[in-house]
Amino acid sequence: MSAFLRLKLSQMIMMIFVFYLMILECLSPAHALSSFRTPSYSTKTPYFWVNDEKETIALDSETWFEYGEKTCQIIHLNAVFRHGARFPSLKWIKRMTTLHEKLVENGVDERYPFLKAWKNPFPEKSDKIIAELGEQEQEMLGERFAHRFNLLFDEDMDSIRVVSSSKQRSYASSLSFYTGLSQTVFGEADKTMEPTVNDIEMRFHDNCVHFAESVDKNKTATNEYSKFKYGPEVDVIAKKLTDVLHLPEKAAVTPDDLNTIHQLCAFEEALTDAGSEWCQFLDQESLEVIQYMNDLKQYWKKMYGHDISSAMSCPLLSRIFTTLDKVIQANNADDDYAAAEFGFGHAETLAPLYASLGLFKDEPQLKADNFKLHLNRKFRASRVLPFSANFAVALYQCDSGEDNNDYLEYVVRFYVNEKTVDIPACGKQVCPYKEVREFYKNQVDNCEFHKMCRNPEPKENSEHDEL
Ligand SMILES: *[C@@H]1O[C@H](CO)[C@@H](O)[C@H](O)[C@H]1NC(C)=O
Repeated sequence: MSAFLRLKLSQMIMMIFVFYLMILECLSPAHALSSFRTPSYSTKTPYFWVNDEKETIALDSETWFEYGEKTCQIIHLNAVFRHGARFPSLKWIKRMTTLHEKLVENGVDERYPFLKAWKNPFPEKSDKIIAELGEQEQEMLGERFAHRFNLLFDEDMDSIRVVSSSKQRSYASSLSFYTGLSQTVFGEADKTMEPTVNDIEMRFHDNCVHFAESVDKNKTATNEYSKFKYGPEVDVIAKKLTDVLHLPEKAAVTPDDLNTIHQLCAFEEALTDAGSEWCQFLDQESLEVIQYMNDLKQYWKKMYGHDISSAMSCPLLSRIFTTLDKVIQANNADDDYAAAEFGFGHAETLAPLYASLGLFKDEPQLKADNFKLHLNRKFRASRVLPFSANFAVALYQCDSGEDNNDYLEYVVRFYVNEKTVDIPACGKQVCPYKEVREFYKNQVDNCEFHKMCRNPEPKENSEHDEL
Protein backbone atom coordinates (compact mmCIF):
# COMPACT_ATOMS: atom_id res chain seq x y z
CA MET A 1 0.00 0.00 0.00
CA SER A 2 1.36 3.41 -0.87
CA ALA A 3 1.96 5.98 1.84
CA PHE A 4 -0.74 8.10 0.27
CA LEU A 5 -3.35 5.36 0.52
CA ARG A 6 -2.40 4.47 4.07
CA LEU A 7 -2.94 8.07 5.06
CA LYS A 8 -6.33 8.06 3.40
CA LEU A 9 -7.27 4.84 5.15
CA SER A 10 -6.27 6.10 8.57
CA GLN A 11 -8.18 9.30 7.93
CA MET A 12 -11.23 7.30 6.98
CA ILE A 13 -11.02 5.18 10.11
CA MET A 14 -10.70 8.33 12.13
CA MET A 15 -13.75 9.83 10.45
CA ILE A 16 -15.83 6.73 11.02
CA PHE A 17 -14.82 6.79 14.65
CA VAL A 18 -15.73 10.45 15.06
CA PHE A 19 -19.03 9.81 13.31
CA TYR A 20 -19.69 6.90 15.66
CA LEU A 21 -19.03 9.15 18.67
CA MET A 22 -21.41 11.75 17.28
CA ILE A 23 -24.17 9.16 16.90
CA LEU A 24 -23.59 7.95 20.46
CA GLU A 25 -23.83 11.52 21.69
CA CYS A 26 -27.13 12.08 19.88
CA LEU A 27 -28.62 8.88 21.24
CA SER A 28 -27.92 9.65 24.86
CA PRO A 29 -31.19 10.74 26.49
CA ALA A 30 -29.77 13.89 28.08
CA HIS A 31 -29.09 15.15 24.58
CA ALA A 32 -32.54 14.61 23.19
CA LEU A 33 -33.98 18.02 24.07
CA SER A 34 -30.81 19.91 24.79
CA SER A 35 -30.98 22.19 21.77
CA PHE A 36 -33.01 24.58 23.93
CA ARG A 37 -30.47 24.53 26.75
CA THR A 38 -28.68 27.68 25.76
CA PRO A 39 -27.94 30.82 27.77
CA SER A 40 -31.07 32.58 26.49
CA TYR A 41 -33.40 32.72 29.46
CA SER A 42 -32.34 35.85 31.30
CA THR A 43 -32.15 35.32 35.05
CA LYS A 44 -33.96 31.97 34.67
CA THR A 45 -31.01 30.34 32.91
CA PRO A 46 -29.52 27.37 34.79
CA TYR A 47 -25.79 27.79 35.45
CA PHE A 48 -24.63 24.87 33.37
CA TRP A 49 -26.41 26.13 30.28
CA VAL A 50 -23.83 28.92 30.38
CA ASN A 51 -20.79 27.08 31.65
CA ASP A 52 -19.63 23.64 30.54
CA GLU A 53 -20.23 21.19 33.37
CA LYS A 54 -17.89 18.64 31.78
CA GLU A 55 -14.94 21.04 31.66
CA THR A 56 -11.89 19.39 33.19
CA ILE A 57 -10.38 21.62 35.82
CA ALA A 58 -6.79 20.82 36.67
CA LEU A 59 -5.92 20.76 40.35
CA ASP A 60 -4.61 24.16 41.44
CA SER A 61 -5.02 25.61 37.97
CA GLU A 62 -5.66 29.09 39.48
CA THR A 63 -3.40 28.84 42.52
CA TRP A 64 -0.28 30.28 40.90
CA PHE A 65 0.54 32.39 37.90
CA GLU A 66 3.51 34.23 36.50
CA TYR A 67 3.40 38.01 36.70
CA GLY A 68 6.35 39.63 34.98
CA GLU A 69 9.42 38.24 36.75
CA LYS A 70 7.38 37.18 39.72
CA THR A 71 5.38 34.16 40.73
CA CYS A 72 2.09 34.88 42.46
CA GLN A 73 0.31 32.52 44.82
CA ILE A 74 -3.24 32.85 46.09
CA ILE A 75 -3.66 33.76 49.73
CA HIS A 76 -7.38 34.59 49.91
CA LEU A 77 -10.54 34.04 47.88
CA ASN A 78 -13.64 36.15 48.37
CA ALA A 79 -16.74 35.10 46.43
CA VAL A 80 -20.42 36.01 46.20
CA PHE A 81 -23.01 33.64 44.72
CA ARG A 82 -26.55 33.92 43.59
CA HIS A 83 -28.58 30.93 44.86
CA GLY A 84 -28.91 27.86 42.63
CA ALA A 85 -31.80 27.12 40.28
CA ARG A 86 -35.14 27.48 42.06
CA PHE A 87 -38.79 26.95 41.27
CA PRO A 88 -40.74 29.75 39.61
CA SER A 89 -42.36 32.38 41.81
CA LEU A 90 -46.04 32.08 42.71
CA LYS A 91 -46.87 35.00 40.42
CA TRP A 92 -45.41 33.22 37.41
CA ILE A 93 -46.81 29.81 38.34
CA LYS A 94 -50.27 31.40 38.24
CA ARG A 95 -49.54 33.16 34.96
CA MET A 96 -48.51 29.82 33.43
CA THR A 97 -51.85 28.25 34.36
CA THR A 98 -53.79 31.27 33.10
CA LEU A 99 -51.95 31.33 29.78
CA HIS A 100 -52.63 27.65 29.24
CA GLU A 101 -56.34 28.22 29.89
CA LYS A 102 -56.40 31.08 27.40
CA LEU A 103 -54.81 28.97 24.68
CA VAL A 104 -57.16 26.04 25.27
CA GLU A 105 -60.23 28.30 25.31
CA ASN A 106 -59.16 29.55 21.91
CA GLY A 107 -58.68 26.10 20.44
CA VAL A 108 -54.88 26.21 20.18
CA ASP A 109 -54.80 22.67 21.62
CA GLU A 110 -56.29 21.39 18.33
CA ARG A 111 -53.13 22.43 16.51
CA TYR A 112 -50.79 21.69 19.40
CA PRO A 113 -52.12 18.52 21.03
CA PHE A 114 -49.57 18.58 23.86
CA LEU A 115 -51.69 21.37 25.34
CA LYS A 116 -54.59 18.97 25.87
CA ALA A 117 -52.67 16.91 28.38
CA TRP A 118 -50.52 19.70 29.78
CA LYS A 119 -50.75 20.39 33.48
CA ASN A 120 -48.71 22.98 35.28
CA PRO A 121 -45.86 20.92 36.76
CA PHE A 122 -45.11 23.57 39.40
CA PRO A 123 -47.30 23.42 42.50
CA GLU A 124 -48.12 26.82 43.97
CA LYS A 125 -46.40 25.96 47.20
CA SER A 126 -43.08 25.43 45.39
CA ASP A 127 -42.85 29.25 45.13
CA LYS A 128 -39.13 30.07 44.77
CA ILE A 129 -37.80 27.15 46.79
CA ILE A 130 -34.49 25.76 45.62
CA ALA A 131 -34.66 22.90 43.11
CA GLU A 132 -32.55 19.76 43.20
CA LEU A 133 -30.86 21.12 40.09
CA GLY A 134 -29.93 24.24 42.06
CA GLU A 135 -28.35 22.19 44.82
CA GLN A 136 -26.41 20.21 42.22
CA GLU A 137 -25.18 23.44 40.64
CA GLN A 138 -23.89 24.63 43.98
CA GLU A 139 -22.29 21.34 44.94
CA MET A 140 -20.52 21.22 41.59
CA LEU A 141 -19.38 24.80 42.07
CA GLY A 142 -17.93 23.81 45.43
CA GLU A 143 -16.00 21.03 43.71
CA ARG A 144 -14.86 23.30 40.92
CA PHE A 145 -13.62 26.00 43.28
CA ALA A 146 -11.86 23.36 45.39
CA HIS A 147 -10.09 22.14 42.26
CA ARG A 148 -9.00 25.49 40.96
CA PHE A 149 -7.71 26.75 44.31
CA ASN A 150 -6.93 23.47 46.03
CA LEU A 151 -3.85 24.53 47.99
CA LEU A 152 -5.73 27.42 49.60
CA PHE A 153 -8.36 25.13 51.11
CA ASP A 154 -6.09 22.23 51.75
CA GLU A 155 -4.08 24.30 54.20
CA ASP A 156 -6.93 25.81 56.12
CA MET A 157 -10.66 25.05 55.91
CA ASP A 158 -11.38 26.16 59.47
CA SER A 159 -10.86 29.84 58.76
CA ILE A 160 -13.45 29.95 55.96
CA ARG A 161 -16.40 32.30 56.58
CA VAL A 162 -19.76 31.58 55.00
CA VAL A 163 -22.50 34.23 54.92
CA SER A 164 -26.02 33.74 53.63
CA SER A 165 -29.19 35.77 53.21
CA SER A 166 -32.10 34.64 55.35
CA LYS A 167 -33.87 33.01 52.39
CA GLN A 168 -34.11 29.23 52.14
CA ARG A 169 -32.74 29.14 48.58
CA SER A 170 -29.58 31.00 49.55
CA TYR A 171 -29.05 29.13 52.81
CA ALA A 172 -29.52 25.76 51.10
CA SER A 173 -27.13 26.89 48.34
CA SER A 174 -24.41 27.64 50.88
CA LEU A 175 -24.74 24.17 52.41
CA SER A 176 -24.56 22.44 49.03
CA PHE A 177 -21.59 24.52 47.97
CA TYR A 178 -19.76 23.68 51.19
CA THR A 179 -20.55 20.00 50.74
CA GLY A 180 -18.89 20.03 47.33
CA LEU A 181 -15.95 22.06 48.56
CA SER A 182 -15.18 20.00 51.66
CA GLN A 183 -15.82 16.72 49.86
CA THR A 184 -13.18 17.61 47.31
CA VAL A 185 -10.66 18.84 49.85
CA PHE A 186 -11.10 16.17 52.56
CA GLY A 187 -12.58 13.28 50.59
CA GLU A 188 -15.71 13.47 52.74
CA ALA A 189 -18.35 16.14 53.12
CA ASP A 190 -18.33 18.30 56.23
CA LYS A 191 -22.00 18.75 57.18
CA THR A 192 -21.36 20.77 60.32
CA MET A 193 -20.82 24.16 58.71
CA GLU A 194 -23.39 26.78 59.69
CA PRO A 195 -23.44 29.99 57.68
CA THR A 196 -23.89 33.37 59.32
CA VAL A 197 -27.10 35.04 58.20
CA ASN A 198 -26.66 38.68 57.23
CA ASP A 199 -29.37 40.46 55.24
CA ILE A 200 -27.69 43.85 55.25
CA GLU A 201 -24.84 42.31 53.24
CA MET A 202 -26.84 39.81 51.18
CA ARG A 203 -30.33 41.37 50.89
CA PHE A 204 -29.63 45.10 51.15
CA HIS A 205 -32.30 45.73 48.49
CA ASP A 206 -34.90 44.56 50.98
CA ASN A 207 -33.63 46.85 53.71
CA CYS A 208 -33.34 50.12 51.86
CA VAL A 209 -36.33 52.49 51.98
CA HIS A 210 -34.98 54.92 49.41
CA PHE A 211 -34.42 52.12 46.89
CA ALA A 212 -37.89 50.69 47.53
CA GLU A 213 -39.59 54.06 47.02
CA SER A 214 -37.57 55.61 44.24
CA VAL A 215 -36.84 52.49 42.16
CA ASP A 216 -38.44 49.22 43.17
CA LYS A 217 -42.03 50.44 43.58
CA ASN A 218 -41.69 53.33 41.14
CA LYS A 219 -42.85 52.48 37.61
CA THR A 220 -41.26 55.62 36.15
CA ALA A 221 -37.84 54.35 37.23
CA THR A 222 -38.08 51.48 34.73
CA ASN A 223 -39.63 53.56 32.00
CA GLU A 224 -37.21 52.29 29.34
CA TYR A 225 -38.33 48.76 30.10
CA SER A 226 -42.03 49.63 29.73
CA LYS A 227 -41.35 51.54 26.52
CA PHE A 228 -39.61 48.52 25.00
CA LYS A 229 -42.20 46.09 26.35
CA TYR A 230 -44.96 47.97 24.52
CA GLY A 231 -42.76 49.02 21.60
CA PRO A 232 -42.33 47.85 17.99
CA GLU A 233 -39.79 45.01 18.46
CA VAL A 234 -41.92 43.16 21.00
CA ASP A 235 -45.03 43.88 18.98
CA VAL A 236 -43.55 42.15 15.92
CA ILE A 237 -42.76 38.92 17.74
CA ALA A 238 -46.08 38.98 19.62
CA LYS A 239 -48.01 39.35 16.33
CA LYS A 240 -45.95 36.60 14.74
CA LEU A 241 -46.81 34.18 17.55
CA THR A 242 -50.47 35.27 17.50
CA ASP A 243 -50.51 34.18 13.85
CA VAL A 244 -48.69 30.93 14.48
CA LEU A 245 -51.21 30.05 17.19
CA HIS A 246 -54.18 31.27 15.09
CA LEU A 247 -55.37 33.37 18.00
CA PRO A 248 -58.18 35.89 17.47
CA GLU A 249 -57.44 39.57 17.99
CA LYS A 250 -59.13 39.68 21.40
CA ALA A 251 -56.85 36.90 22.65
CA ALA A 252 -53.68 38.14 20.93
CA VAL A 253 -50.33 37.28 22.48
CA THR A 254 -49.26 39.98 24.95
CA PRO A 255 -45.74 40.91 26.10
CA ASP A 256 -46.50 39.20 29.41
CA ASP A 257 -47.59 36.06 27.56
CA LEU A 258 -44.22 36.04 25.79
CA ASN A 259 -42.48 36.29 29.11
CA THR A 260 -44.61 33.50 30.54
CA ILE A 261 -43.73 31.22 27.62
CA HIS A 262 -40.07 32.18 28.06
CA GLN A 263 -40.21 31.12 31.72
CA LEU A 264 -42.25 27.99 30.98
CA CYS A 265 -39.68 26.87 28.44
CA ALA A 266 -36.73 27.52 30.75
CA PHE A 267 -38.22 26.07 33.94
CA GLU A 268 -39.77 22.96 32.37
CA GLU A 269 -36.67 22.27 30.34
CA ALA A 270 -34.51 22.67 33.44
CA LEU A 271 -36.62 21.07 36.14
CA THR A 272 -38.75 18.36 34.54
CA ASP A 273 -37.64 15.07 33.00
CA ALA A 274 -39.79 15.49 29.93
CA GLY A 275 -38.39 18.88 28.98
CA SER A 276 -40.65 21.54 27.53
CA GLU A 277 -42.81 21.64 24.44
CA TRP A 278 -43.42 25.33 25.05
CA CYS A 279 -39.95 26.08 23.71
CA GLN A 280 -41.17 25.49 20.15
CA PHE A 281 -43.04 28.82 20.38
CA LEU A 282 -39.77 30.74 20.75
CA ASP A 283 -37.46 31.23 17.81
CA GLN A 284 -34.05 32.88 17.85
CA GLU A 285 -35.47 36.31 17.07
CA SER A 286 -38.02 36.23 19.87
CA LEU A 287 -35.46 34.92 22.36
CA GLU A 288 -33.25 37.88 21.50
CA VAL A 289 -36.08 40.41 21.91
CA ILE A 290 -37.40 38.89 25.14
CA GLN A 291 -33.91 38.89 26.60
CA TYR A 292 -33.46 42.56 25.84
CA MET A 293 -36.83 43.32 27.42
CA ASN A 294 -35.80 41.50 30.60
CA ASP A 295 -32.30 42.94 30.58
CA LEU A 296 -33.73 46.46 30.45
CA LYS A 297 -35.66 45.74 33.63
CA GLN A 298 -32.63 44.32 35.43
CA TYR A 299 -30.41 47.12 34.19
CA TRP A 300 -32.73 49.94 35.28
CA LYS A 301 -33.62 48.34 38.58
CA LYS A 302 -30.38 46.76 39.72
CA MET A 303 -27.47 48.07 37.70
CA TYR A 304 -26.72 51.43 36.11
CA GLY A 305 -30.15 53.04 35.91
CA HIS A 306 -30.15 54.77 39.29
CA ASP A 307 -27.29 55.53 41.66
CA ILE A 308 -28.97 54.04 44.71
CA SER A 309 -29.19 50.57 43.06
CA SER A 310 -25.44 50.12 43.08
CA ALA A 311 -24.62 52.39 46.02
CA MET A 312 -26.75 50.32 48.40
CA SER A 313 -24.44 47.32 47.89
CA CYS A 314 -21.70 49.10 49.86
CA PRO A 315 -22.11 46.96 53.02
CA LEU A 316 -21.10 43.96 50.89
CA LEU A 317 -18.42 45.75 48.88
CA SER A 318 -17.04 47.20 52.06
CA ARG A 319 -16.97 43.83 53.80
CA ILE A 320 -15.08 42.28 50.87
CA PHE A 321 -12.36 44.92 50.75
CA THR A 322 -12.06 45.25 54.50
CA THR A 323 -11.43 41.52 54.64
CA LEU A 324 -8.77 41.82 51.93
CA ASP A 325 -7.11 44.64 53.88
CA LYS A 326 -7.04 42.49 57.01
CA VAL A 327 -5.64 39.50 55.14
CA ILE A 328 -2.76 41.59 53.82
CA GLN A 329 -2.10 43.08 57.24
CA ALA A 330 -2.08 39.67 58.89
CA ASN A 331 0.04 38.17 56.14
CA ASN A 332 2.62 40.93 56.49
CA ALA A 333 2.72 40.30 60.23
CA ASP A 334 2.84 36.53 59.79
CA ASP A 335 -0.49 36.17 61.59
CA ASP A 336 -3.43 33.92 60.76
CA TYR A 337 -6.19 35.16 58.47
CA ALA A 338 -9.30 33.87 56.70
CA ALA A 339 -8.45 31.75 53.66
CA ALA A 340 -11.80 32.46 52.07
CA GLU A 341 -15.16 34.13 52.47
CA PHE A 342 -18.26 32.94 50.60
CA GLY A 343 -21.52 34.89 50.44
CA PHE A 344 -24.84 33.47 49.19
CA GLY A 345 -27.55 35.83 48.04
CA HIS A 346 -29.67 36.77 45.07
CA ALA A 347 -29.65 38.40 41.64
CA GLU A 348 -30.45 41.53 43.66
CA THR A 349 -27.18 41.05 45.52
CA LEU A 350 -24.96 40.34 42.56
CA ALA A 351 -26.24 42.86 39.99
CA PRO A 352 -25.78 45.90 42.27
CA LEU A 353 -22.36 44.54 43.24
CA TYR A 354 -21.36 44.25 39.56
CA ALA A 355 -22.50 47.84 39.06
CA SER A 356 -20.61 49.19 42.05
CA LEU A 357 -17.51 47.39 40.75
CA GLY A 358 -18.02 48.96 37.32
CA LEU A 359 -18.51 45.64 35.53
CA PHE A 360 -20.65 45.10 32.41
CA LYS A 361 -21.11 48.79 31.88
CA ASP A 362 -22.41 49.44 28.38
CA GLU A 363 -22.08 52.80 26.68
CA PRO A 364 -24.45 54.33 25.88
CA GLN A 365 -27.00 53.15 28.44
CA LEU A 366 -29.40 50.37 27.52
CA LYS A 367 -32.59 52.01 26.34
CA ALA A 368 -35.85 51.13 24.64
CA ASP A 369 -34.65 52.55 21.32
CA ASN A 370 -31.19 50.99 21.09
CA PHE A 371 -31.90 47.26 20.96
CA LYS A 372 -29.92 46.82 17.71
CA LEU A 373 -26.94 48.79 18.99
CA HIS A 374 -26.70 46.52 22.03
CA LEU A 375 -26.91 43.11 20.38
CA ASN A 376 -23.37 42.46 21.64
CA ARG A 377 -23.85 44.17 24.99
CA LYS A 378 -21.72 43.39 28.01
CA PHE A 379 -24.71 43.17 30.32
CA ARG A 380 -26.64 40.10 29.26
CA ALA A 381 -28.39 38.55 32.26
CA SER A 382 -28.47 35.08 30.64
CA ARG A 383 -24.68 35.08 30.82
CA VAL A 384 -23.81 37.15 33.86
CA LEU A 385 -26.82 36.56 36.14
CA PRO A 386 -27.97 32.96 35.61
CA PHE A 387 -28.87 30.83 38.62
CA SER A 388 -25.73 30.25 40.74
CA ALA A 389 -24.00 33.21 39.09
CA ASN A 390 -20.86 34.11 40.98
CA PHE A 391 -18.30 36.83 41.40
CA ALA A 392 -14.92 36.25 43.06
CA VAL A 393 -11.87 38.29 43.94
CA ALA A 394 -8.71 36.27 44.32
CA LEU A 395 -5.87 37.90 46.25
CA TYR A 396 -2.34 36.80 45.35
CA GLN A 397 1.01 37.42 46.92
CA CYS A 398 3.84 37.78 44.43
CA ASP A 399 7.58 37.54 44.89
CA SER A 400 10.59 37.08 42.70
CA GLY A 401 12.16 34.33 44.80
CA GLU A 402 14.99 36.61 45.85
CA ASP A 403 15.97 37.48 49.39
CA ASN A 404 15.09 41.16 49.39
CA ASN A 405 11.48 40.41 50.21
CA ASP A 406 10.80 43.22 52.59
CA TYR A 407 8.36 44.38 49.93
CA LEU A 408 5.73 41.85 48.93
CA GLU A 409 3.50 42.70 46.05
CA TYR A 410 -0.21 41.94 46.25
CA VAL A 411 -2.31 41.61 43.13
CA VAL A 412 -5.90 40.56 42.44
CA ARG A 413 -7.90 38.84 39.77
CA PHE A 414 -11.67 39.18 39.32
CA TYR A 415 -13.72 36.16 38.25
CA VAL A 416 -17.28 36.15 36.97
CA ASN A 417 -18.79 32.70 36.63
CA GLU A 418 -15.29 31.26 37.12
CA LYS A 419 -13.68 33.19 34.27
CA THR A 420 -11.33 36.11 34.71
CA VAL A 421 -12.64 39.50 33.59
CA ASP A 422 -10.94 42.85 33.03
CA ILE A 423 -10.70 44.81 36.26
CA PRO A 424 -12.07 48.35 35.79
CA ALA A 425 -9.35 49.87 38.03
CA CYS A 426 -6.55 49.06 35.56
CA GLY A 427 -8.28 47.61 32.51
CA LYS A 428 -6.38 44.33 32.82
CA GLN A 429 -7.06 40.85 34.19
CA VAL A 430 -4.47 41.30 36.93
CA CYS A 431 -4.17 44.53 38.92
CA PRO A 432 -2.05 45.60 41.88
CA TYR A 433 -4.27 45.43 44.96
CA LYS A 434 -3.38 49.02 45.87
CA GLU A 435 -4.82 50.35 42.63
CA VAL A 436 -8.02 48.38 43.01
CA ARG A 437 -8.45 49.39 46.63
CA GLU A 438 -7.93 53.04 45.71
CA PHE A 439 -10.47 52.76 42.89
CA TYR A 440 -13.25 51.73 45.31
CA LYS A 441 -12.04 53.88 48.20
CA ASN A 442 -15.10 56.06 48.51
CA GLN A 443 -17.68 53.24 48.51
CA VAL A 444 -15.60 51.09 50.85
CA ASP A 445 -14.54 53.71 53.38
CA ASN A 446 -17.66 55.89 53.40
CA CYS A 447 -20.46 53.36 53.38
CA GLU A 448 -23.36 54.97 55.23
CA PHE A 449 -26.02 52.46 54.35
CA HIS A 450 -28.91 53.54 56.54
CA LYS A 451 -28.29 57.16 55.74
CA MET A 452 -28.22 56.74 51.95
CA CYS A 453 -31.25 54.47 52.23
CA ARG A 454 -33.03 57.09 54.30
CA ASN A 455 -33.96 54.35 56.72
CA PRO A 456 -35.69 55.64 59.85
CA GLU A 457 -33.81 53.00 61.83
CA PRO A 458 -32.51 49.50 60.99
CA LYS A 459 -35.72 47.75 60.02
CA GLU A 460 -36.97 44.17 60.06
CA ASN A 461 -36.96 42.06 56.91
CA SER A 462 -39.91 42.29 54.65
CA GLU A 463 -40.66 40.08 51.70
CA HIS A 464 -41.46 41.51 48.33
CA ASP A 465 -40.88 40.90 44.70
CA GLU A 466 -37.32 39.65 44.53
CA LEU A 467 -35.75 36.95 42.41
C1 LIG B 1 -39.61 57.79 40.32
O1 LIG B 1 -38.64 57.75 39.27
C2 LIG B 1 -38.46 58.94 38.55
C3 LIG B 1 -37.45 58.64 37.44
O2 LIG B 1 -36.26 58.16 37.94
C4 LIG B 1 -38.01 60.06 39.48
O3 LIG B 1 -37.86 61.27 38.77
C5 LIG B 1 -38.99 60.21 40.62
O4 LIG B 1 -38.52 61.16 41.54
C6 LIG B 1 -39.22 58.88 41.32
N1 LIG B 1 -40.25 58.96 42.34
C7 LIG B 1 -39.99 58.81 43.63
C8 LIG B 1 -41.20 58.81 44.54
O5 LIG B 1 -38.89 58.67 44.08
